[in-house]
Amino acid sequence: MTAIAVVEGDGIGREVIPVARDVLALLHPEYEFYPVEVGYATWQRTGEACGADAISLLRDADAILFGAVTTPPASDYRSVVLQIRKELDLYANLRPIQGNRVDIMVVRENTEGLYSGIEWQEEDRASTLRVITRKGSERIARTACRIARERKNQLTIGNKANVIKSDVFFRDICIRTAEEMGVSYTTAFIDALTLDVLMHPERYDVIVTTNIFGDILSDAAAYLVGGLGMLPSANIGDSHALFEPVHGSAPDIAGRGIANPIAAVRSAAMLLHHQGDIAGAALIEDAIRLTTEAGIMTPDTGGKASTREVGAAMISGLSRLMEQN
Ligand code: NAD
Ligand code: IPM
Ligand code: MN
Repeated sequence: MTAIAVVEGDGIGREVIPVARDVLALLHPEYEFYPVEVGYATWQRTGEACGADAISLLRDADAILFGAVTTPPASDYRSVVLQIRKELDLYANLRPIQGNRVDIMVVRENTEGLYSGIEWQEEDRASTLRVITRKGSERIARTACRIARERKNQLTIGNKANVIKSDVFFRDICIRTAEEMGVSYTTAFIDALTLDVLMHPERYDVIVTTNIFGDILSDAAAYLVGGLGMLPSANIGDSHALFEPVHGSAPDIAGRGIANPIAAVRSAAMLLHHQGDIAGAALIEDAIRLTTEAGIMTPDTGGKASTREVGAAMISGLSRLMEQN
């Protein structure tokens, strides 16, 4: 029995995740889905955003489908997403940027760097320690190289080694790993790289980078494929895997029923791929394409349809494709 933990979370997570879940359930009626409550609303209700019980439910799952959570900018509130990534050691954040003439995989280190959580505040300054470890760098470099070998074997190592010493360390480990694994590579400074990805996306295959650079690069690259409503991601560790849209809880549109469910549905496709159902993942992508080509799109991508209408169109497209297969 395959058990999928479903976290809707906050804001539009509650609108897009039911669509993604329905898509998975259609392809895999044998999956067991169980809800896990975490996030800001949970914190407001219970005083705890993601307690030990929730973490243990997530640990029990074969895979996790995750929406988004709101992180209020209060100093005493710890981001639930970061907590889960750390506790489950989901060290590789894979963010495919795929669309018209664009096919890039951003491989973001997901557990350390500026997100190490080692921070303190004094009277007149606040500090965050950026920790880059050999273990953390080697494992993300190996993941990126493995992915590159299955694609065009072209790795770009995004860094800021011109000014940050810990990035010299990261860059050099990535270079050594690429050489050992026979992957052809280039290095690029993350600021210039971000612009070049937008101007010449066809030059890129796999980009590996540290935590916050990968965060910013992936949101920026969403520009190439229609915005944040389109981008899925996978958070992969050695024992657990969590799939979530790149976007957040979008409080500006939450509750209006207009959130684009494609990022969440694509995250479900990545989940299936990870479970070994490559054909099912491809069917989901086909169903998305059929829906978009029919002009059934939410306002962020120029359409007039609601989240539910897009969801219904994808489900009926998927049913038709399943009958043909
Ligand atoms: P956001 O990604 O939620 O939204 C940015 C912009 O993109 C907004 O204008 C939003 O309306 C739009 N957008 C995002 N997803 C969309 C979709 N599916 N369809 C249509 N439009 C979409 O980023 P933000 O506004 O910076 O953050 C809001 C909250 O989400 C914050 O509390 C932040 O901490 C949190 N956040 C959570 C996650 C996560 O849970 N993984 C990720 C990013 C941000
Ligand atoms: C993301 C988000 C998270 C991050 C936040 C919500 C902690 O922006 O998943 O991209 O910075 O990683
Ligand atoms: Mn982000």
